Amino acid sequence: MTLAKWIDLKAVSDPRGLLVVAEAGRQIPFDIRRVYFMRDLKVDEPRGFHAHKALEQVAVCVAGSCSIILDDGTTREELRCEDPTKGLYVGPTIWHEMQDFSPDCVLLMFASAEYDEADYIRDMSEFKERTS
Ligand code: TYD
Repeated sequence: MTLAKWIDLKAVSDPRGLLVVAEAGRQIPFDIRRVYFMRDLKVDEPRGFHAHKALEQVAVCVAGSCSIILDDGTTREELRCEDPTKGLYVGPTIWHEMQDFSPDCVLLMFASAEYDEADYIRDMSEFKERTS
């Protein structure tokens, strides 16, 4: 079983370049309440190391490449993200870590809710308890 749920975004490519569309209720399976992105990431400084209680997210590596590790408490899987037309769904209670960023990596995230620290599970043992 794979934890990877890849979402095909709408890609419109023509001689002028590539245009990629993500719409709530179409490609994105939730109402988008927040968008954020990460850039200037360091290859040796992984990020994430948390799960969310309820938040749903879709990650799109819009430039460069990176790896995202997903862990549901049983299965741990590392996915390489390098296609700007594909989103990786990161559901609730999925521990995630991001690493191996290329220098030009821009990681865009669509989220189903506003930022709320109370929704984070940052402690791996708490995560293991919740998923056992
Ligand atoms: P965090 O989610 O912990 O990122 P990572 O796990 O990749 O390091 O967020 C890092 C900091 O940014 C933290 O202090 C909270 C803040 N932050 C916001 O204020 N709003 C947001 O939407 C996000 C995602 C983070």
